[in-house]
Amino acid sequence: MARRQGPGPWWHGAIGYQIYIRSFADSNADGIGDLTGIRGRLGYLVDLGVDFVWITPFYPSPMADWGYDVADYCDIDPRFGTLADFDDLIVDAHRRGLRILVDLVPNHSSDAHPWFQDALTGPDSDYRDYYVWADPDSDGGPPNNWIAYFGGPAWTLDQASGQYYMHLFLPEQPDLNWRNPSVVDEFDRILRFWLERGVDGFRIDVAGALVKDDRLRSNPQVGPWDPIAGRAKQWLAFDHRHDVFQPESHQVFRRWRAICDEYDAYLLGETYHRDPQGLADLVPGDGMHGGFWFEPMHVDWDVDELRRALAAPVDLLGERLLWATGSHDVPRSPSRFGGGDLGRERTLALNVLISCLPGVPVLYQGEELGLVDGRVPPGAVLDPVESGRDGCRTPMPWEPGPGTGFTTGEPWLYSDRRADDETAQAQVNRPGSWHSRYTDLLAARRDLPDLVNEPVVWTDGGDGPVISYRRGPVTVVANTSGHAHQAEIPVDGAVAYATPGVVAADAGHLSIAAHGAAILVTPS
Ligand code: NOJ
Ligand code: CA
Repeated sequence: MARRQGPGPWWHGAIGYQIYIRSFADSNADGIGDLTGIRGRLGYLVDLGVDFVWITPFYPSPMADWGYDVADYCDIDPRFGTLADFDDLIVDAHRRGLRILVDLVPNHSSDAHPWFQDALTGPDSDYRDYYVWADPDSDGGPPNNWIAYFGGPAWTLDQASGQYYMHLFLPEQPDLNWRNPSVVDEFDRILRFWLERGVDGFRIDVAGALVKDDRLRSNPQVGPWDPIAGRAKQWLAFDHRHDVFQPESHQVFRRWRAICDEYDAYLLGETYHRDPQGLADLVPGDGMHGGFWFEPMHVDWDVDELRRALAAPVDLLGERLLWATGSHDVPRSPSRFGGGDLGRERTLALNVLISCLPGVPVLYQGEELGLVDGRVPPGAVLDPVESGRDGCRTPMPWEPGPGTGFTTGEPWLYSDRRADDETAQAQVNRPGSWHSRYTDLLAARRDLPDLVNEPVVWTDGGDGPVISYRRGPVTVVANTSGHAHQAEIPVDGAVAYATPGVVAADAGHLSIAAHGAAILVTPS
């Protein structure tokens, strides 16, 4: 298996890559990415220099939420392949030193899952208590004021029994009842099923929301709630004290940690807590090994916001952090940061800043090509969520031409054709391409000394357009402004990595082009 840096776990110093399976590579011309497609692109991933991939859900699913509605936790949807394809993928990936993480979706199942189908037969079903049911409020309405993250009430009435079931997402995604020990046991088995097949870890979907308030108390309302307003606005109308982030979820993570440690597997969470202390409470060290910090996906391109988003969680979580500037849920960073080459330069600068902080950076597929969002015309939109997540989910452009090397059929999601120079074929091994800049960054990061025990010292003084820090012998610097800037950085060290336009002006000064960034190493 792949290199280990230092004595710690294998993910210290590692870099991850998120594969949105539907849109990565299609091996059988049905227009849907699949496991065999991924297998055919392992060489690309190894050459890019990532250490592990996290693959989004591939389980049997009605696809109400594109696979985050699981109908069988221990099988593969035929559209993505078979268990044999999965085993082949693991074997090939491991042979190449690449680890594979899978997406576990424990907060909710699909309404098509046999557990829920049985639960629907009535209150006497053996599986009724696998889900969160409650009687109507005295006025016949939902049992409490909880709302779904996708908007609207978090409760749907089951006409047959007269009870409501709870769903933090779509009605097709009923929440599991994590206070039921049988559910806990089921998931122990599910984890072991995949670990026995050789997976190297799990990304836990909606980690932090598993256990709900035992009395299903209403949340305090802190603003006007408009059930047809945008989903973020709806969510912010309440203080989510009773529906999410209940401390009891931690028992589940401790249990899973013990299982994962048996297999040297990495347990990381989609820990959507915007407050660094909240994130630290969710990932205190003896449960999940790590949790994503989401601020880099939300910040505007503003130096103070960036500084805060980078610094805030570092001392609290250290190596337990995971960093990403994009995912299948938010617009791609180059689009958010101004579009075109401006957005690409800014995204790369942010990735350089992230690259040497404690924790594990995870690239989202296509980020290494500098991709902006694909354009999905209004009539082609497929995502059920109002904000629309299709733009960041369009097929990976591998090569010029129809289907862009993603498929020889019709892609499952229609989008405008990518420009030829956005494709992997046009960029791989081309000096100066976005792909080369990312490959060089990953290679430079890999060759740095082990930084795990080195504290982060911010060296930019907290003002001005430059962000910089030192970590042991390494200095990382980025100019967030649109003008070249002279930064007072000791340049006695070797430049391990630099974007174009970074030059040593004179002793003690580095001249950095607009949105440029560099990593310097001082000889010991
Ligand atoms: C987070 C996933 O990343 C997102 O795509 C999904 O819709 C929700 N969790 C619900 O599972
Ligand atoms: Ca396919």
